[in-house]
Amino acid sequence: MGDTIFHVLQHAVPDATALREFVTSLPWPVITLDATGKVIHVSQKIPGFADIGGTACTPSLAHLFPDFHAALRGEPRHHVAQTADLTRQVAGHAVHERLVLRPVSGGAYLIVIDQTTLRELEVTSTQTSRLAALGFMIAGVCHEISNPITSVQSMLQILQSQKQLGPVLLEKGLANIASSIKRLLQISSRLMNFSRVGEQHSAAFRLDTLVEDAIAILRQDPRAARIEICFEPGSDAMIFGSVGCMQEVFVNVFENALHAMEGVGRLDIRISRLAMNRVAAEIRDTGPGISHQAMHRIFEPFFTTKAAGHGSGLGLSISNEILHEHDGAITAENNPDGGACFRIELPLFAERS
Ligand SMILES: Nc1ncnc2c1ncn2[C@@H]1O[C@H](COP(=O)(O)OP(=O)(O)OP(=O)(O)O)[C@@H](O)[C@H]1O
Ligand SMILES: [Mg+2]
Repeated sequence: MGDTIFHVLQHAVPDATALREFVTSLPWPVITLDATGKVIHVSQKIPGFADIGGTACTPSLAHLFPDFHAALRGEPRHHVAQTADLTRQVAGHAVHERLVLRPVSGGAYLIVIDQTTLRELEVTSTQTSRLAALGFMIAGVCHEISNPITSVQSMLQILQSQKQLGPVLLEKGLANIASSIKRLLQISSRLMNFSRVGEQHSAAFRLDTLVEDAIAILRQDPRAARIEICFEPGSDAMIFGSVGCMQEVFVNVFENALHAMEGVGRLDIRISRLAMNRVAAEIRDTGPGISHQAMHRIFEPFFTTKAAGHGSGLGLSISNEILHEHDGAITAENNPDGGACFRIELPLFAERS
């Protein structure tokens, strides 16, 4: 049974050893579910688990998590952590728990956190979900950083073993080391931003202003010099959430478009109000669009088509997590007349309160 948990995750997380260590080191029980929602492994005993365990798990979890089945089916927009609160009767006492559902290839993890522990840790629901998301990225991170570290190590060994080091070999060796270190720094800075749980204050803000600020950041990039950026503010949509996180989302999407257009093209940003008190921002570019093979993988952590050292592959997966935390969503498609179109959907603030 111990191995089943890792077998299920093999496709999503390449480094099974790192994952095994991570799951067993968690202070909370972790339940592994297969793609049908059936419990296949429980890492620690949970008092009164029969209440939510076994095959009986599926209906109650589907009730607790509205996107439960979509998440298990592996639909990209549901590839984020979801949280739900549950009160169970255990030996005549009410036990309050927070459940974090983390979809992975071929199933999902369910982390059961006792609310008392949660209060001790003084973390909010968003932080719990974000920490869980980060935790499950760790195994992928271990795998991702091992390549550049090995590369630096081998290159150093080669350089150290040469008695007389020629300038060509030295230059090549240093360039190789520099590119590996660049990749390591990219991964660490992306994860660092995402993990700054304590520094993000939520507030109401104008979506137009946020987009304008993100455009101003983009314009500082020399690759944007010959890109036409079209945005007409005026939607007056108000959003509630973390301005810093949301800005990261827009900058990520803009930077991807910039990279795709290779210096020349047009970036169109349009904001429109939707039904159900929601708003959508559409970001279209005139690049080559997203290939059919890449389309279903772009929200996966570490998926990138950029050359080594040019992308961590974390931009869209982190954006997806951030939007989910804000009750939003991000989707991608290709424009019929060429280029990619990203659509960011968010709830409006005014109508929420
Ligand atoms: N506008 C776009 N046009 C074409 N392909 C895109 C576009 N945006 C994203 N993609 C594809 O999605 C992949 C994943 O994007 P993501 O932002 O997650 O990582 P990245 O851009 O490769 O790395 P990083 O964000 O760290 O620079 C990209 O490598 C690219 O293949
Ligand atoms: Mg990116």
